[in-house]
Amino acid sequence: MLRDTPTTIYLKDYRPPEYLIDRVDLTFELGEEETRVRSVLQIRENPAAEVSGVLRLHGEQLELIALSLDGRPLQATEYQVDDEGLTIQQMPAQCILESDVRILPQKNTALEGLYKSGTMFCTQCEAEGFRKITWFLDRPDVMSRFTTTIRADRIRYPVLLSNGNPLNEIQTDDGMHQITWEDPFPKPAYLFALVAGDLRSIEASHTTPSGRDVALKIYVEPENIDKCDHAMASLKHAMAWDERCYGREYDLDIYMVVAVNDFNMGAMENKGLNIFNSKYVLASPETATDRDFQGIESVIAHEYFHNWTGNRITCRDWFQLSLKEGLTVFRDQEFSADMGSRGVKRIEDVRLLRAHQFAEDASPMAHPVRPDSYMEINNFYTVTVYEKGAEVVRMQANLLGSDLYRKGTDLYFERFDGQAVTTDDFVQCMAEVSGRDFSQFKRWYSQAGTPELKISSDFQPEQQRYTLTVAQHCPATPGQPDKAAFLIPFAVGLLDKNGNEMPLQLQGEAEAITGTRMLEVSERRQQFTFIGINERPVPALLRGFSAPVKVQYDYSDEELMFLMAAEPDGFCRWDAAQTLAQRILLKRVATPDAEIPAGFVEAFRKALTDRESDQALLAEVLTLPSESYLGDQMKEVDVEGIHRSRESLKRHLALTLKDELLSLYHDNYSADGYAPDAVSIGRRSLRNLALSYLIQLDDPAVLQLCIDQFRAGQNMTDVLAALSLVADKDVPEAEQLLEQFYQQWKNDPLVMDKWFTLQALANRPDTLSRVENLMKHPAFSLANPNKVRSLIGAFCSGNAVGFHAADGSGYQFLGDRVLELDGMNPQVASRMVRIMARWQRYDKQRQQMMKAQLERILKTEGISRDVFEIASKSLEQ
Ligand code: TRP
Ligand code: ZN
Repeated sequence: MLRDTPTTIYLKDYRPPEYLIDRVDLTFELGEEETRVRSVLQIRENPAAEVSGVLRLHGEQLELIALSLDGRPLQATEYQVDDEGLTIQQMPAQCILESDVRILPQKNTALEGLYKSGTMFCTQCEAEGFRKITWFLDRPDVMSRFTTTIRADRIRYPVLLSNGNPLNEIQTDDGMHQITWEDPFPKPAYLFALVAGDLRSIEASHTTPSGRDVALKIYVEPENIDKCDHAMASLKHAMAWDERCYGREYDLDIYMVVAVNDFNMGAMENKGLNIFNSKYVLASPETATDRDFQGIESVIAHEYFHNWTGNRITCRDWFQLSLKEGLTVFRDQEFSADMGSRGVKRIEDVRLLRAHQFAEDASPMAHPVRPDSYMEINNFYTVTVYEKGAEVVRMQANLLGSDLYRKGTDLYFERFDGQAVTTDDFVQCMAEVSGRDFSQFKRWYSQAGTPELKISSDFQPEQQRYTLTVAQHCPATPGQPDKAAFLIPFAVGLLDKNGNEMPLQLQGEAEAITGTRMLEVSERRQQFTFIGINERPVPALLRGFSAPVKVQYDYSDEELMFLMAAEPDGFCRWDAAQTLAQRILLKRVATPDAEIPAGFVEAFRKALTDRESDQALLAEVLTLPSESYLGDQMKEVDVEGIHRSRESLKRHLALTLKDELLSLYHDNYSADGYAPDAVSIGRRSLRNLALSYLIQLDDPAVLQLCIDQFRAGQNMTDVLAALSLVADKDVPEAEQLLEQFYQQWKNDPLVMDKWFTLQALANRPDTLSRVENLMKHPAFSLANPNKVRSLIGAFCSGNAVGFHAADGSGYQFLGDRVLELDGMNPQVASRMVRIMARWQRYDKQRQQMMKAQLERILKTEGISRDVFEIASKSLEQ
């Protein structure tokens, strides 16, 4: 907890460690009151650093029992312990440092370090949690070989796990047992893990191309043993994919995944022992939605991919976080694209980026992919570092093409295996294999903000020329008023009036290519002139979303409708529909009865009845832009106006296209058993989308369709879709169905999360008081991050109308929850306070009320560094 203003850490202050720790020998004695941790560290001076002779180890909330150096107990004058660590004044050039500490995992509500989740012990050490276990150089550029012995009660904790390979188990007469694990790979402390509990596991095996047999194990609480199959299948797919696409294979004899209920994030890539939020492991058709199945596949893959991009090659310091996260997200995105529908996956990724990362870039929390300062590193596990970081890797792949990109990653793995490196090191590999200069490109890592491309076109029929003029501009972000020009891979195509691709030949080039052209925009203003163009084309811009930028081009409504129907690139087709819908929606925020162009409805009808197209892609095209994304496009967010406009357009479409929507609904019914493949997922999402339009009709027959779908209970996707539509309505069935759902699932915490979310998102005047009541519900707990996100998080960030209520009650509610949570779990509290970081986007009254909450939080004594950083930066102007 905070005493003084937290210090800011700067990238420019990075220095290599003065000491290295070659080996770590840990012994844990897990108890019901306390845990003892004995550590033996082999320490030596770092030959590559200037050494002061003073050793400073990180350590927090450790109670010292004993400390000795080379076998000699240290005198009180020879060391100092404070809140943040241990200092030893007279260090020999090398030594063995032994310590014995007491820690209290049972009291650890921050879920960082060693803690208990239900009856099991588990750890979370990234980013800086290992220092709550024992004294250490808790920084990623110190890589050590770990041996871990765990002693615990045999009955309560029959399963004892740590990184690497198990050596031996010893049973002792006192009802205890102990196991030693040895990890042959040097690793930073943030990848350490330990698990102890009464767990069941499923097992499978995988043989790598080089012939290594790997045992794959997924550990869960006994009641969940039948919900692991999808995670296991996903793991096998991920292993095969990484072998095929990156030439990377696994390197230990055993790979373990453990599911825990209390976890701050999604999952953690600890070497050989991944620990997962149970939400990303457990699934059955009855309890998990299509989204859940997809989430499991991608998170399982993500953590597996980290074994090479993160573990074998790790980060030199936490400013380089995107080195592992951006690259690993890009890898998991491509994996999911290969497993399912590539076009839909790209749209989903862009939707997420635009909704959250663009919004972050436009907020006081804007920061570069490689930040240059932070107060609390946990605050920088952001959409910018992860998703924009993935886009930055994708752009390098776009610029190089797939063969050279693969050469670049091969070089990266070969050159840096076993090291802790920087994003510059990664880019250097791409530069070397391609012979290109990446110095301008690297601004993507150092400059924050979303670049805007203003495009204009000029057709000169006499000369058969078509010129695209591209001007780039990046808005100022905190600490970066002026930006240098970016190098932007800008994929374009030109369509003729029949929707065919035109041959593209730039002035000065010998021949034309047909299809997509990757232009490289590097100047502030630049022209691209195509020759041999004999009619005015419709340009398709930023195909595949080739760069994380905003594009402005003055399309007519007709051109957008044309692209909706004819454009071959799925992203651009979807984007045309979004742009057109956005135009109509925003116009009707200002003028509620502004006309809806008949052509738009017709384009919708055409899409609806086009049975050729990929159902999942169609569902994306027919989904209107979200309320929050629409808000981002306004000077000042009009919460109520946007909501009204969006609902009324949905109603209009439902009225006009009722028959088409109904047949879409019925035609996409499937009596087959559940399967989470792309085609079935597409059918379900299209069908449920149709239902969400039809419900706007306030037609009892449609309500009955929802009720029937709920009662049929085929799978959680359909049940939840139906229930969420009914729950919005002021009908007696709303309560009945919610109660029935509760009775059926009250013992399944992950399903209860959905039940909470549904009610938090309900579009009803009494939602806030309902949420407040639900906080007292026995199935709710403030100590469980999934519950907090499902109820409080869902209401505050997913229910704009409720949260931004004009009386400020939503803000007061969030302020109260942040302060309440901060005492237990600063990481979770900090995620919640971030919701208010964008207060400037609203009207004066709302601004005042949100600011008042932020100020109140800041004034509260003892708030965490996590919350302090977000609240104070949000208020800085
Ligand atoms: N490295 C993890 C991932 O992206 C992220 C993570 C898991 C994390 N738990 C955390 C980050 C706790 C910070 C704190 O795969
Ligand atoms: Zn990750």
